[in-house]
Amino acid sequence: MDMAYVHVDGAVKFFSREDGAGMLVLDHVSFDTKENGVTCLLGPSGCGKSTLLNAISGLERLEQGRVEVVSDHGRATTLSPQLGYVFQDPRLLNWKRVEDNLIFALKGMEVPQAEWKERIHKYLGMVGLLEFRKQYPLYLSGGMRQRVGLARGLVIEPEVLLMDEPFSKLDQFTARKLREDTLAICARLRQTALLVTHDVEEAAYMGDRIVILSARPAHVAEILDNPLPPLERELDDFGFIEFKKRLLQSVLKLMEEEVRA
Ligand SMILES: Nc1ncnc2c1ncn2[C@@H]1O[C@H](COP(=O)(O)OP(=O)(O)O)[C@@H](O)[C@H]1O
Ligand SMILES: [Mg+2]
Repeated sequence: MDMAYVHVDGAVKFFSREDGAGMLVLDHVSFDTKENGVTCLLGPSGCGKSTLLNAISGLERLEQGRVEVVSDHGRATTLSPQLGYVFQDPRLLNWKRVEDNLIFALKGMEVPQAEWKERIHKYLGMVGLLEFRKQYPLYLSGGMRQRVGLARGLVIEPEVLLMDEPFSKLDQFTARKLREDTLAICARLRQTALLVTHDVEEAAYMGDRIVILSARPAHVAEILDNPLPPLERELDDFGFIEFKKRLLQSVLKLMEEEVRA
């Protein structure tokens, strides 16, 4: 099993506004993700979470600081770490069958063709969609499409899986089931993952580690490790509710400070 984590050190990012003025989005953000676990980035809408993911994936350049995926032998690389993505919208190729969407990702990562079949079986099976492999995405429900997105993120066996609010467009029931399944899959694979969310309960449920971000410009307000192992988190369990409350208190305190500032 590969080991990997993300190291973010003093990340600073500005965007220029229409009027040409600079807008600070990331204000010296520093944290390490959990190795072989799920780290949640929890913060309000517009604070800079997606920007931070884009910086990690190399889509956005930072003005200061650095992001690294540190893998295996402590060898740091900012060059081309293997990253899988799951977005809010699954962003599937609707004219390609489910399995061809996965193959597209495998080709992109130059995975040898001899491995495709096994990989597709493994990861489509994991998300429960093996029997839909010949289907076109438009004939699937929103939740199923999101599952295909998850399988596509996993099929390349990424060092780090990046998930940007992957449940936020689903209805409550579908979202709950998909969170449960995603958590179990990540735990089983010991997948290093970074999940962006604005939902306190989701962070408490999904995160082995939770990085609380302030409103824009985002800075790290607090980093908390989940006392409960992933498969022992139950939404109605006392220990889980205690931790969720702890997280909520930090978020409320931060909001109060922001009002006063
Ligand atoms: N390419 C861009 N150019 C200018 N402003 C941007 C760009 N991308 C994001 N922003 C702004 O940066 C801030 C943070 O955006 P984002 O990272 O998408 O927030 P979040 O994902 O936390 O909701 C927002 O105010 C957004 O409008
Ligand atoms: Mg976002």
